[in-house]
Amino acid sequence: MAPKYNNSNKPFTCSISTFFLSISFLFAIFLSLFLLSSNQSSKSTLLSSCLISTSTPDSIKVYVSDLPRSLNYGLLEKYWLLSHDSRLGSEVDNQIRSTNSWNNNKIKNIPMYPESPLIKQYSAEYWIMGDLATPQELRTTSFAKRVSAPEEADVIFVPFFATISAELQLGVAKGVFRKKVGNEDYSRQREVLDFVKGTEAWKRSNGRDHVFVVTDPVAMSHVREEIASSILLVVDFGGWYRVDSKAANGNTSDHMIQHTQVSLLKDVIVPYTHLLPRFDISQNQKRKTLLYFKGAKHRHRGGLIREKLWDLLIDESKVIMEEGFPNATGKDQSIKGMRNSEFCLHPAGDTPTSCRLFDAIQSLCIPVIVSDNIELPFEGTIDYTKFSVFVAVSEALQPNRLVNRLKSYTNLQKDEFRQNMARVQSFFEYDNGYPGGVGPVPVNGAVNFIWRKVHEKLPVIKEAVVRARRKPPNVVVPQRCHCT
Ligand SMILES: *[C@@H]1O[C@H](CO)[C@@H](O)[C@H](O)[C@H]1NC(C)=O
Ligand SMILES: *[C@@H]1O[C@H](CO)[C@@H](O)[C@H](O)[C@H]1NC(C)=O
Repeated sequence: MAPKYNNSNKPFTCSISTFFLSISFLFAIFLSLFLLSSNQSSKSTLLSSCLISTSTPDSIKVYVSDLPRSLNYGLLEKYWLLSHDSRLGSEVDNQIRSTNSWNNNKIKNIPMYPESPLIKQYSAEYWIMGDLATPQELRTTSFAKRVSAPEEADVIFVPFFATISAELQLGVAKGVFRKKVGNEDYSRQREVLDFVKGTEAWKRSNGRDHVFVVTDPVAMSHVREEIASSILLVVDFGGWYRVDSKAANGNTSDHMIQHTQVSLLKDVIVPYTHLLPRFDISQNQKRKTLLYFKGAKHRHRGGLIREKLWDLLIDESKVIMEEGFPNATGKDQSIKGMRNSEFCLHPAGDTPTSCRLFDAIQSLCIPVIVSDNIELPFEGTIDYTKFSVFVAVSEALQPNRLVNRLKSYTNLQKDEFRQNMARVQSFFEYDNGYPGGVGPVPVNGAVNFIWRKVHEKLPVIKEAVVRARRKPPNVVVPQRCHCT
């Protein structure tokens, strides 16, 4: 079913053109002045872009690099043609395989993306590609405008399904994943890089204006240095810090990470694909649980705090901590848990973020983020403090602190959080309701927001390209990104 979308090209301008909208907007402000006490921030500041500009550009020009189909949709076919996948969470895909229903989309012959939660959460590459693969006449709502020559483009999109490539290899022969020999994922990474590096477009910019989707923390792991200058669409910087600290021979600390590959100046944080269905605010009922968390108790690295939090919270009343499974039972459990709880805990896992945060937002469960170095999508446009609670790890680990803080929120405050959250639910939605994502995208959906964010980075990237071009041949400067 296709969700409704707004036909306006400029949804974030504060100057709303029609008279009636202006009147109702004024009325809403008037009303909110009555309803909210003056020290509570008005809802109209939720989208901080409202404060920045009323003349946002309405497009970014994108050229799609000419990679063979075998490096994107062909990989999905390969995935579905596996005879069986025995990994955790794969039973749903094995079911789809057994009925051949992955291929029932005859439009442009685009196969389904895997439903296995461990892969589906990284499906950004599929939806971004679906938008670009949509016939031009249907793309009137897309922020990305396709151009037919690289010279006309602001950026070059490299349509490699890096997540599927990595997951395919993990499914077939996990043992060689870290090696190069016998690793088809590595061969594909090589093929992509050899291809793009051979183009004039790459040579002009040294890849700085090329866009790669690298959501899975293990994707493209063999060529990270080669794409370090490019625009990377990532879910967070978790996996990349480790590359940096290794490159620095361990000579790096938590306080000073030597970014050589990722930076908020050029890269874009994209949302995980949520796995739970959207819950509409009109259905909201009294929530019986104070705080809910489902997931693994034991995690490596940053996730060590999970274990400590677990022990602190497990015996609290109105707090539910449960271990989950990546299957249908686990999904039902999460839907119920998140819709019945006021707050949902989001501690760091293997990486600072997880798709749980986006499931909480779709469930209108107020996120409690205990993950000190988290990066979030679309910041600058979305103000997360208007619907989430941020707690320092050190504070959360003090007995009773977290629960007491959550209990201190009034019903009015919680309702306001939920109403604000309802306004951004669509921002994290990749699926436009069309098979393969081929069809008009919602103006306020994730795909458009990603391209808007890329557009915001353009001045810095263009400057870097010009600076690099004036350097005489054979001048080598160390690779570095600015720290932000
Ligand atoms: C680590 O970096 C610091 C500051 O740059 C330097 O003084 C120190 O010698 C380095 N240590 C090692 C083991 O490389
Ligand atoms: C999900 O996994 C758990 C643990 O392996 C199992 O007990 C449960 O029956 C599974 N549910 C489904 C629907 O497969």
